[in-house]
Amino acid sequence: MIKAVTGTRDILPNDIPKWNFLLSIVESVFTKFNYKEIRTPIFEETSLFARGIGEATDIVSKEMYTFIDRSGDSVTLRPEMTAGVVRAFIEHSLDKKQNLNKLFYAGPMFRQERPQAGRFRQFHQFGAEALGSNDPLLDAEMIIMSYDIFNRLGLKNLIVKINSLGVPESRENYKKVLRQYVEPHLNKLSSESKKRFDTNIMRIFDSKEENDQKIMANAPLLIEYLDEESLQHFEKVKQTLLSNKIPFEVDTKLVRGLDYYTHTTFEIVSGSVGSQSALCGGGRYNLLVKELGGSETPGVGFAAGMERILLACENEKSFLLDDEKIDVFIVTIEKGLEKFAYQTAVDFRRKGLIVDLDYLSRSVKAQMREANRFNAKYVLFIGGEEFSRDEIVLKNMRNSEQKNFSKKDLDKIFESIKEK
Ligand code: HAM
Repeated sequence: MIKAVTGTRDILPNDIPKWNFLLSIVESVFTKFNYKEIRTPIFEETSLFARGIGEATDIVSKEMYTFIDRSGDSVTLRPEMTAGVVRAFIEHSLDKKQNLNKLFYAGPMFRQERPQAGRFRQFHQFGAEALGSNDPLLDAEMIIMSYDIFNRLGLKNLIVKINSLGVPESRENYKKVLRQYVEPHLNKLSSESKKRFDTNIMRIFDSKEENDQKIMANAPLLIEYLDEESLQHFEKVKQTLLSNKIPFEVDTKLVRGLDYYTHTTFEIVSGSVGSQSALCGGGRYNLLVKELGGSETPGVGFAAGMERILLACENEKSFLLDDEKIDVFIVTIEKGLEKFAYQTAVDFRRKGLIVDLDYLSRSVKAQMREANRFNAKYVLFIGGEEFSRDEIVLKNMRNSEQKNFSKKDLDKIFESIKEK
């Protein structure tokens, strides 16, 4: 038997209402903040991600689904959206149409990570990017929007972590100091952290190894080396969060796994989902547009993992959706009336009702069971003694009331179903 590829999942019909509910909240919150939806292709030229996310990152060096297509070009399934959105922004000169572009998206992303609870190889993100302003209000806005979305889903167990990575100059100075600190401990570090010493020294803070963590516990922190402008920017982000009632923690070790960040970085983690606890992450990236060939344009954004969010909602039982209902189930009582029943169904559907009927020549009893399975509000009986008098019977399944109608009077039946 052929099964879904490791790390990918089917979203079955029973789960779709939760996904749609989540998407409806995402859309509603982004729309209120006047963000406009953007859709970019699922695959891009490989070099976009290598340049955008950074060659040394885990995503680019280990996790991308990259292949040579039949024309001999190297393409990659998108591991995230920021690089693609920035590519589209530059390609379509969106900055010429508007000084500030506030964009949002939702869709599947692909990373060949080791699958575990909350970590998949095809997963879904929604997110937002604001391109064209360095205002710290926008950094805060990303956090406010994600927090509002989680709130509207009823999620409680959340921690907002924020940090500032400053501008590259102060970061480079800091990296020198960090290198001096780490070097004497180098042979005690894990092999992964040793590698990071050369490629991306700040990511050693992300190591899960106890010994690495012990060594890094006393390391100098970037926040102590930030320049005045970066400190002021960070201060304004914090003030904005406070005045908008977002509780947060400053986590001076929050580095994040993508190379493009400057100034603010943030994550919102949930205490309800186990080890893969980051529901969303993001930050400012003032150099990325230029890095990808555009003119110097500041940007800030975030993305959230939809599987993890729904897992948190399920574990916290944070919302309950009503059972899905159909308006009418048509029960065909005797052979020969299938055509009439079918046409009645199509007519009602064209008028806007949700209607189903039997396609398997089942008994009346089995058809009634089906009507109950679909939570039908009404059952319309076609056949029997009534039908020979040119009548059909409409049963209200909530109070079991029955009403007879002339079989020609479909409009009246429609009206009485619609009224309820
Ligand atoms: P990221 O932290 O790599 O950031 O991903 C954002 C979120 O996507 C994570 O917090 C997590 O919820 C979810 N996620 C990531 N990988 C997986 C996975 N393998 N399985 C399930 N969920 C996953 C970015 O992608 C940046 N583009 C965010 C950003 C936008 N920064 C600025 N603008």
